[in-house]
Amino acid sequence: MLSNATPTYLTGFGGHFATEAVPGALPQGRNSPQRPAFGLYTEQVSGSAFTAPRHENKRSWLYRMRPTADHRPFTRYAGAPRFTADSATEPLAPNRLRWDPLPAAPEGTDFVDGLVTMVANRDPAHLEGVAVHLYSANRDMERRVFVDADGELLIVPQGGRLDILSELGRLEIGPGQIALVPRGIRFRVRLPEGRATGYLVENYGAPFRLPDLGPIGANGLANPRDFETPVAWFEDRDEPFEVIQKYLGSLWTTTLDHSPLDVVAWHGNLAPWRYDLSRFNTIGTVSFDHPDPSIFTVLTSPSETPGRANVDFVIFPPRWMVGEDTFRPPWFHRNVMSECMGLISGDYDAKAEGFAPGGLSLHNMMSGHGPDVESWRKASEAELKPVKIEGTLAFMVESCWPFRVTAEALGRAQSDYDLAWADFPKAKLP
Ligand code: FE2
Repeated sequence: MLSNATPTYLTGFGGHFATEAVPGALPQGRNSPQRPAFGLYTEQVSGSAFTAPRHENKRSWLYRMRPTADHRPFTRYAGAPRFTADSATEPLAPNRLRWDPLPAAPEGTDFVDGLVTMVANRDPAHLEGVAVHLYSANRDMERRVFVDADGELLIVPQGGRLDILSELGRLEIGPGQIALVPRGIRFRVRLPEGRATGYLVENYGAPFRLPDLGPIGANGLANPRDFETPVAWFEDRDEPFEVIQKYLGSLWTTTLDHSPLDVVAWHGNLAPWRYDLSRFNTIGTVSFDHPDPSIFTVLTSPSETPGRANVDFVIFPPRWMVGEDTFRPPWFHRNVMSECMGLISGDYDAKAEGFAPGGLSLHNMMSGHGPDVESWRKASEAELKPVKIEGTLAFMVESCWPFRVTAEALGRAQSDYDLAWADFPKAKLP
């Protein structure tokens, strides 16, 4: 039965874990014994092709009370009407876009029904691309689970804690932490504080990994030991459970006569994890100029072109600014990569106002962007003593594929965002 005890975790990014919630449930020395303990069913979940190179091969073996294969046909799901990557049919103007936080969801809205898709690129069927959704929820998911066949899910809370009950264990996270649920793993979300808001990054492409460190060396940025994977946990509930599945961009539903969170033991390296962003070892200049923001990459999903990410997840955490003779905020910029930003807390150092926690912005391929007038003026005139940026946490979802914007998002965009860059004084030549 459901335990309210604090979950326990195994540490390490991408490790090969072995865990059982009932002693003796996990086979030893083999994956698929003729008769698993207690009559459990053996199931392999493959997150990569069988033949993927060893360092990219991801799969786990699950030992469960019933096989996932036992279900009736899926039919279209009528809920979550704004959780869709259908983009506006009009051509997309090359405008910078910014959004205020979502209004609170109507009472009785759970994590899935409270999802609103804002931007997306590519097609999930191509196994490339990324979508960014916002969530606003005020009700636990009870007797229903969600599963995304289209991609892995990076959950980025902005307000309120989440209790994520997955097939492979329970994770608790709150603002400042992130969690990842692999493609195809079923889970439900409870809200210990009764309501929650945040971001959901849906990665259709290669699974997120830690970036290479190059000359940084063997340590730094997100260190592998700080990633936490839950131990096996299950619920034994014989009552109707709805399974909502996202599949090829649409939502589908079927009902089981039991909770599918019935995995008693598992082993492998395809598993959910959580990570505390305050553990990120932030690296920056100690001389002049600041490095490109790729120095703040927490996770990367590569495309097939070396060095060009399908999606990078990048953060702008509290950090010291010490650069001499340096304009310290993000500079003016145009980029072939497309940049979608969210704000978890505080103020973002390139925007003095208008970008609220829970909001979103989009600077798509080759859009001119950078500090707003007020931030530019302050940074240009500031005394360059060491300064610590504190009490702020922003993030960026950067992709090599330009984002499309949903009709819902286009209708919500701030009408005056361009004014952030109005009235810069003209340079005075000698
Ligand atoms: Fe940029």
